[in-house]
Amino acid sequence: MSTTPATHRAPAPPLPPGAPIRSGAVPQTFQNPTRVITGEGCAAEVGPHAAKLGATKVMVVSDPGVVRAGIPKSVIDSLHDSGIETLLYSEVEPDPRIELVEATLKAYKEFGGQLIVAVGGGSSIDVATATAILATNPGPLRSYEGWEKFLNSPDPLFALPTTVGTAAEVTPFVVITDAAAKFKFTIGSPKAAPMIAFLDPMLVLGLPPSVTAATAMDALTHAIESYTSLLSTPISEGLALQAIRMISANIRIAVANPNNLAAMNALLIGANIAGLAFSNTRLGNVHATAHPLGAFWKIPHGVANALMLPHVMEFNALACPLRMIDIAQAMGESVAGMSMAGTTEHDAALRAVQAVRRLETDIGIPARLRDLGVDKASIPDMAADAMKSANIAINPRKTTINEIISLYESAW
Ligand SMILES: NC(=O)c1ccc[n+]([C@@H]2O[C@H](COP(=O)([O-])OP(=O)(O)OC[C@H]3O[C@@H](n4cnc5c(N)ncnc54)[C@H](O)[C@@H]3O)[C@@H](O)[C@H]2O)c1
Ligand SMILES: [Fe+2]
Repeated sequence: MSTTPATHRAPAPPLPPGAPIRSGAVPQTFQNPTRVITGEGCAAEVGPHAAKLGATKVMVVSDPGVVRAGIPKSVIDSLHDSGIETLLYSEVEPDPRIELVEATLKAYKEFGGQLIVAVGGGSSIDVATATAILATNPGPLRSYEGWEKFLNSPDPLFALPTTVGTAAEVTPFVVITDAAAKFKFTIGSPKAAPMIAFLDPMLVLGLPPSVTAATAMDALTHAIESYTSLLSTPISEGLALQAIRMISANIRIAVANPNNLAAMNALLIGANIAGLAFSNTRLGNVHATAHPLGAFWKIPHGVANALMLPHVMEFNALACPLRMIDIAQAMGESVAGMSMAGTTEHDAALRAVQAVRRLETDIGIPARLRDLGVDKASIPDMAADAMKSANIAINPRKTTINEIISLYESAW
């Protein structure tokens, strides 16, 4: 957690040392610096917006899978139609490493780019954002880990998500892997949020079902963890509940039929709304335990979250049963009258956990860490890394390292 004292004007700041951790106990700001443009075909607006900034050379950052699917074409065509020269850089890998960001920066500098446009999932958007930061700040990248650690505004950045999960197109966070340390670190600053996000459902139409399932579970986790975070506020709560409704109502349809435009659009927007919420509240034990699973075992971020989510919800239900009941209702569970039928508040809260488990079975999320090749012997080391996450302190139930070990063991 950062020790930067100026924490009250920015979203999701680290708490001042010794501050009581409870919503309303410290002044909080709701801030989302990114302009969000939505709608079918809105990728064609990228060129005119880039031209308005005066850019003549734009680097498009993507990954090989997204390029193979032909997705950046509409963006590149739009830039060319506005008379802008482009360089397509498509070397991004999942769980992007520091070295990849450095290579992207080298290509950007050699090209003489003035604006970066990310077209891809969270990995492409994170690489693009980290590159934009290093374009104006000397580095090294890891020295900016924490909150508001770099000084200069990054180069301008537009982001077009092609998955339905991370909301990296609006968050003030960048997640990069330090491969040598096997550690995923986070850089955060309102200056890191992209300038414009274009949510074009045509870019997610036909998304492979396994990618939809994993990334939409990441988004659902964002919404649930934001809703139960000790930093949640009435503003973030409204967004989080709306995101839970939109994602849980559409995820099965979108996995079953990737060409259902309405369902894919609802997931894209639901994921974005969840991002607006968690940018201001941060997350919780699910993300704290999921990041080491990515760093140690390369488990896709959304799958890692999905595997940990029911276990953490069950653990948290004791601390925030009413919030869990709200989540169950937002997921379409009927909990009305449960107390009259002789069940406890805790039983009703657990309906949210059951709803998540049923959903995950329906969309084909693997049930156990052991099925993904995780060695049980790595749990203590992963738990030690999970405890370094700033999300532990704002999880609704106070958590010790032994409890993190138990959570991993129950998911194993
Ligand atoms: N910055 C943030 O706020 C934030 C938040 C959450 C997660 N993250 C990070 O984001 C990364 C995960 O991002 P992600 O889950 O979006 O996945 P991703 O970007 O790693 O992409 C996953 C796979 O999906 C493929 N893919 C993406 N879009 C496609 C499309 N439209 N059609 C076909 N294939 C497509 C890619 O080629 C890739 O193989 C993790 O590193 C995670 O830590 C960042
Ligand atoms: Fe996430």
